[in-house]
Amino acid sequence: MRSPYTPGVGLEPSYLAGREAVLADYRQRLTSAPLHGKNSLVTGLRGVGKSVLLKHLATEATAAGWIPVVREMTKRSNHEDELIRGLLADMALRLKGVTISRQHQRIGLGERTEKVAEEFDLDHLLRIFDRHPGDKGDKLLQTIKYVSGIATQLKYQGLVLLLDEFQILEDTGGQFSLTLILDAASRLQSSTTCAVHFVLAGLPTLLGKIIEAKPHAERLFPNNLSLGALDATATRQAILEPLKLAGAPDRFAPDLVELLVQETAGYPYFVQYFADVAFSTFEHSPVTRADGENILPEVYAQLDEAFFAGRLYPLTLKERAVTLATAKIPAPFTPTQVVDAVKSFGSDANMGTVQQYLLALQAKNIIYKVRRGAYDYALPLFGRFLLRCLENEDPGVTLRKVGQT
Ligand SMILES: Nc1ncnc2c1ncn2[C@@H]1O[C@H](COP(=O)(O)OP(=O)(O)OP(=O)(O)O)[C@@H](O)[C@H]1O
Ligand SMILES: [Mg+2]
Repeated sequence: MRSPYTPGVGLEPSYLAGREAVLADYRQRLTSAPLHGKNSLVTGLRGVGKSVLLKHLATEATAAGWIPVVREMTKRSNHEDELIRGLLADMALRLKGVTISRQHQRIGLGERTEKVAEEFDLDHLLRIFDRHPGDKGDKLLQTIKYVSGIATQLKYQGLVLLLDEFQILEDTGGQFSLTLILDAASRLQSSTTCAVHFVLAGLPTLLGKIIEAKPHAERLFPNNLSLGALDATATRQAILEPLKLAGAPDRFAPDLVELLVQETAGYPYFVQYFADVAFSTFEHSPVTRADGENILPEVYAQLDEAFFAGRLYPLTLKERAVTLATAKIPAPFTPTQVVDAVKSFGSDANMGTVQQYLLALQAKNIIYKVRRGAYDYALPLFGRFLLRCLENEDPGVTLRKVGQT
């Protein structure tokens, strides 16, 4: 029998646990909140279920008569033309099959005009984009308005743009992709004729980034959904409901379920990962806590390789050593605590140096600012992973040189 679990990136779980309240709230906003009250942010650590939730928000939007356009931002989106083309292509796809009839001027051939039918495709939207005066921001705004107008003519409520991995967007190298979207959101929310709203999803660094790019941008997104780990009840459901759906409700003994609740701390990716391994490793039924405990070291070794190592190894040696040193202090931590932790490994690092490392680690999405002067890891259960690393690696050797950067 195939495992009913779905560890992965954006993979739809067979049972969506613990998000009923969030979905009900969005459902209500879709019908009753004013346009600007529908704009949302979805933030959370890696693997907490943002992409999956975004798909469900899109489904809610469809059910409420809106046209959702879901798009994931990549580094290429920081190129304005790539970003615009991608958005227009997705909008065209959502309205595929619609034909626009327009008056076509025929000069000097007897009849003055004729009606031509034009497919609503990317080329059509690119023509609309090019035709509008102004800079790229104006053109994009007018094209979105145009699409929303068509949607309204087709009796839809309007357009929802759901943009995932939004923390990747930045204004860089003479390109202003981040500002382009924030300006569009700002100008559209004050429009009385055009119904378009945005849902931006990403790591917790997202909020700081958009405020930095556009002061008071947080006001554009009054609905701030900060996704966290599932509580114990929802975690049990995330483990047990897929088994029921697969026709194997008794496959896991209750004490194994409690072990999984404890080890995963309710983080959806880990729930799927651990439950999948427990399901796939054993053939007997029920699988017990003792079985689970037997394979834990091996499971953690695999998880470290699959999920965490890829984040730690791209760091420079010194960044990695500073990161490892933070394992000794409880998160969220302050720069002063990091200085002390680094010193405890024999380094003479000062505040200035440590601040530089904290900035670098923030830019690489290892940590993020929880509030002024306090940092936490951008990856769930990262502190526990670092403690496992400390058993094999001594950051002291590298750290003693930290002060010399
Ligand atoms: N509510 C949920 N209940 C059960 N499983 C879930 C839930 N949400 C997400 N998952 C599972 O968790 C994993 C991570 O989900 P997803 O990719 O949506 O996270 P994410 O926050 O977008 O991560 P990233 O920051 O890496 O993009 C997937 O394996 C998915 O099946
Ligand atoms: Mg995601």
